[in-house]
Amino acid sequence: MYRIAIVGAGAAAALHARAIQELDNAMLCAVCDSLPEAAERFANTWSCAPYTSPDELIRQEKPDVAILSVPVFLHGEYAERFAASGVHVLCEKPIEMDAERALRLIRARDEGGVKMMIGHVVRFWPGYAEIRDMMDRGELGDILSAVFSRASQVPARGGWILDPERGRGAIQDMLIHDTDFLHYLFGNVASVYTLAAKDDTGCYDHVTANLRFENGTIATALASFTLKDNAYPFTTRYRICGTKATLEYSYRAAVLDIQAGPQAEWFICRKGGQPEPLKIPQRNAYAAQLSYFLDCIREDRAPVLGSLESARESIRILDMIRASAESGEIVREN
Ligand SMILES: NC(=O)c1ccc[n+]([C@@H]2O[C@H](COP(=O)([O-])OP(=O)(O)OC[C@H]3O[C@@H](n4cnc5c(N)ncnc54)[C@H](O)[C@@H]3O)[C@@H](O)[C@H]2O)c1
Repeated sequence: MYRIAIVGAGAAAALHARAIQELDNAMLCAVCDSLPEAAERFANTWSCAPYTSPDELIRQEKPDVAILSVPVFLHGEYAERFAASGVHVLCEKPIEMDAERALRLIRARDEGGVKMMIGHVVRFWPGYAEIRDMMDRGELGDILSAVFSRASQVPARGGWILDPERGRGAIQDMLIHDTDFLHYLFGNVASVYTLAAKDDTGCYDHVTANLRFENGTIATALASFTLKDNAYPFTTRYRICGTKATLEYSYRAAVLDIQAGPQAEWFICRKGGQPEPLKIPQRNAYAAQLSYFLDCIREDRAPVLGSLESARESIRILDMIRASAESGEIVREN
């Protein structure tokens, strides 16, 4: 049984607590948050011990794994603290604020001799995780284009997300999900061109990034916080066009009044054929992600999905996207 501590008791923490409950080989022992009331509230909800000091938590609880769900600019600092005490770390996305700061986690992992992984959960998401296998089996043929998007209200959670310096709005909080996934599907990026808008606080709230990959694939990723003050639910979509098939997915997180509950649709349209619905697997992606990480620890192998090196490449791509948004120019790989 792995003893797990969650660090940062905000929105992402609850997703991880639910995931831990689904696994037979994991138990939530403690939560740590710098705000005592946040730690207490979370501990009461999820039946674990509250702490405000990570060092005290480590001393008292001796966790095997820490899940870091603190704001991004704290990822490196906390990863160092836990790794130095021999605690394995599953850290939320993105790895850090930029590629340079991401090196801190890589050093902490190597010096601490622990396993460390970044929770790029889309790699485990039902309807997304399967794409790589479909591509490997040749079902889609050569990929000609891909369009991925996600949109939500401006998050009510932590004000840091909208801070132009520390949270960087929709680019760092939302776009990273799809650009990391595109990097996972198509490899290294050759160039990017971004169009992005800022809200009146100076924070990006809408971004479209066009990416050309070294393998020739062209893809677009769109992320938006512009669903203002209305009932339109969190929505994600993609369409991948290959020489053999077009694959499309769309998901709405909540009721659109006309129907109850979340709505998802996934289908493939094979060359010469009609659209065929695909069955979206039922699984909790956060539980699948944690289960994968615990398997890596048990079998003493490095996590490949969400490796620090690939997460660092993803944040480097994000750096290129931001540079293009700022300059209005195409940014090419050096
Ligand atoms: N994978 C996903 O689906 C997903 C969803 C949401 C957020 N995230 C990621 O999770 C991380 C946290 O985001 P969130 O939305 O949960 O943020 P949040 O603002 O809701 O929660 C962050 C928590 O960290 C606490 N905190 C702040 N400073 C701290 C410190 N120095 N020490 C300990 N605790 C501290 C805050 O009090 C707060 O409770 C980010 O990396 C974000 O990108 C991932």
